[in-house]
Amino acid sequence: MDIVYDDGELDSLNPSFWEERPIGVWRYRELLPVDYLKAVTLCEGGTGLLDCRRLADAMGLTVVHVKNEGQNPTGSFKDRGMTVGITKAIELGATVVACASTGNTSASLAAYAARAGIKSVVFVPSGKIALGKLTQAIIHGAEIIRLKGSFDDSLKAVMGFTESHRSIYLLNSINPYRIEGQKTLAFEIYNQLHNQVPDNLILPVGNAGNISAAWKGFLELKRLGLAKDFPRMIGIQAEGASPIASAYRSRQMSIVDSERPETIASAIRIGAPVSWKKALRAIYDSKGLAETVTDAEILEAQKMLARFEGLFIEPASAASIAGLRKLVARGEIRRDETTVCIATGNGLKDPDVIINNYKLSPEMDVKGGDPGSILGLPLSAVSMR
Ligand code: F0G
Repeated sequence: MDIVYDDGELDSLNPSFWEERPIGVWRYRELLPVDYLKAVTLCEGGTGLLDCRRLADAMGLTVVHVKNEGQNPTGSFKDRGMTVGITKAIELGATVVACASTGNTSASLAAYAARAGIKSVVFVPSGKIALGKLTQAIIHGAEIIRLKGSFDDSLKAVMGFTESHRSIYLLNSINPYRIEGQKTLAFEIYNQLHNQVPDNLILPVGNAGNISAAWKGFLELKRLGLAKDFPRMIGIQAEGASPIASAYRSRQMSIVDSERPETIASAIRIGAPVSWKKALRAIYDSKGLAETVTDAEILEAQKMLARFEGLFIEPASAASIAGLRKLVARGEIRRDETTVCIATGNGLKDPDVIINNYKLSPEMDVKGGDPGSILGLPLSAVSMR
């Protein structure tokens, strides 16, 4: 399902207002189908678009921008959709909202439901969501249903559950109001690039809502006569969970689900993405592409961004950087093209990945230890006493 605006509604829009308002989701309120005055907001959007020179140099590119969606209130891009989705839920009189999640959607739903004073129920694959995200759902007071199986099983379960309890409002990204909020990503990038669109937009793809939302945003910019072109929409999936990239590889118009999705990037460990049709349309219509990256490539890209740019993003987000690296090496992205990578979530959400993949230096006695020995320096004249 899509939200479609009448020509009349768009004709009356004067985007010169935009620049006079603070950047963020609600700057674009005329293009959001809820009452702005009743918005349930935590001040979402308005995230930094960082010019990553050292990263670009390392990849042999002139310029790479990273959109730091981890700056959102609950630490991921989901807040853009949730502010609109929860505002709609309240408008409809809902008192309970629900979703299935690999973690970030549940954290965001729980926070915005708390802000609105309503209940939230989240279905999560037990033992498979990152610690930071689970703690967010707990502290915001969500009812947490931990299901054995994959995210795909949790999504099926919540869809069945809300089907039989019609008063509970489902807020997964099949809900078109979520997509409306998330499309503001495209509007912000356009404004932040001084009213231009980039040549390439690279996003990690899981359930495929975000790539569909960004594409809708760019289509609306074109329809409004603001942007002349579209970026190529480039979706990156983890090798072990890549039904959309597999479909693209053989230029199919439909996907075959991955039965047992597996990747270190738990946020995108999804085998049956609900928005696959919209995602393939975005990729094909924009002359974009879809590609896979390995877990090792994801971890390497996460480290590069952390060490070259001081930006700590979660593994799923690093898939976009890993994908860029691969496409540059293969000559599919040229040196002088403008590329924006979406860093979808904050690295602090998934500390286990770091602790399990990096070595700490050995513990040292307070007395008699020599810190220089750890740094490989000659014995210090004064050791710690
Ligand atoms: N990056 C992060 C950090 C995510 O949490 C997700 C999705 C994606 C990328 C992929 O976005 O699903 O729109 O293609 N997380 C969902 C969740 C599935 O439940 O939090 P998508």
